[in-house]
Amino acid sequence: MAKMGTSSRVAAAIVVVLGFVLSLAVVCNGGKTSSFVRKVEKTVDMPLDSDVFKVPPGYNAPQQVHITQGDQLGKAVIVSWVTVEEPGSNTVLYWSAYSKKQKSEGKVTTYKFYNYTSGYIHHTTIRNLKFNTKYYYVVGIGHTERQFWFITPPEVGPDVPYTFGLIGDLGQSFDSNKTLTHYELNPQKGQAVLFVGDLCYADTHPNHDNVWWDTWGRFTERSVAYQPWIWTVGNHEIDFAPELGETKPFKPYTHRYHVPYKASGSTAPFWYSIKRASAYIIVLSSYSAYGKYTPQYFWLEQELRKVNRSETPWLIVLMHAPWYNSYNFHYLEGETMRVMYEPWFVKYKVDVVFAGHVHAYERSERMSNVAYNIVNGICIPVKDQSAPVYITIGDGGNTEVLATNMTEPQPAYSAYREASFGHATFDIKNRTHAYYGWHRNQDGYAVTADSMWFFNRYYHPVDDSTSAQ
Ligand SMILES: [Fe+2]
Repeated sequence: MAKMGTSSRVAAAIVVVLGFVLSLAVVCNGGKTSSFVRKVEKTVDMPLDSDVFKVPPGYNAPQQVHITQGDQLGKAVIVSWVTVEEPGSNTVLYWSAYSKKQKSEGKVTTYKFYNYTSGYIHHTTIRNLKFNTKYYYVVGIGHTERQFWFITPPEVGPDVPYTFGLIGDLGQSFDSNKTLTHYELNPQKGQAVLFVGDLCYADTHPNHDNVWWDTWGRFTERSVAYQPWIWTVGNHEIDFAPELGETKPFKPYTHRYHVPYKASGSTAPFWYSIKRASAYIIVLSSYSAYGKYTPQYFWLEQELRKVNRSETPWLIVLMHAPWYNSYNFHYLEGETMRVMYEPWFVKYKVDVVFAGHVHAYERSERMSNVAYNIVNGICIPVKDQSAPVYITIGDGGNTEVLATNMTEPQPAYSAYREASFGHATFDIKNRTHAYYGWHRNQDGYAVTADSMWFFNRYYHPVDDSTSAQ
């Protein structure tokens, strides 16, 4: 080997030091911005005559059948459906292999929105179900009957495994259909969907054409008639349209989608909680008042105190507008709610926060930004093992443009970001471990494009950041 001269030794030293500084800079600038490039064309809605929007055959046949949890523990299910020709029956007939056929009676409602009149919207709550049991149910009694089934969750307990699906901002484009198909065919097998808001995007059509609420109900039935979707409101559910004389926010949404908010002491269907298996799930509304002294503020303050981690170790929060988002789209829209509630999330050691709104994917490190007090200048997020991981999963596939424009450099708190459509699963194994995986639509059904082992913040508060490994 040739001997180096003094000048070349200095040059080599400079290269080493420069390399070290550069690698430090990369670490400081946060995690991974995926180089995956998806197609750039704007996605379009599926046409109204698509097979996924097909009206079921038969006189007054129930359509848009969907279920959600009907109480706080998972022993009740709300069954909803729409009939078009006439109100028909509000009764749900249901049974399991171990019980005889029973009936439950509900209510019917309709609404008008500008020049649109809804069909007959039925909501029936089935109560006193047995845990972990497959039930069959029939709607449309008296005319065309349709049969479906669901499986109730296991009894709430600290080590009960359970797999949640995560979908946000779904819409009804060709990409939305791919997202739903990928969720259905994911071998991880989600048992219930945590939906983080923005359902059908009817408000993007002229006069908020509510026909698109109906098509979305028919499109999603193939999943939501068989497993509960836990609803969060997004901005596209507001449907505030004074130019059309429609000034009551959330009118179509609240008529069509019921949630068990009273069971958790909430006074409005936009914020509530449920327990399911080993998880305590708190749903918040980015579009209802959340400042001090508001109903949502008082409710959340009480709610966080109620969470018993020895019963439900996993504390999950759903909301629509993300608090941490390093895309330029919707930048800082979640900031005022973050200022109000982030100290509580750290104090109560929330495990994970799922949000939508930004049509892309992003996962954060565990960090918080709660030290700032107007005058001290401490306003940069810092690593915090008591803080949640924030995940933006608003990548369901709606027709609004995909968020591709990112803030640069990638902030230190951002672990992974990618502008692709997809869905995720959160697979709770026991009180200490959960496996999280994000799936992009371009991959095979079993492929996880981003993943993380979550360590529970109450039972196993060990550093689980992916960049440290
Ligand atoms: Fe949104």
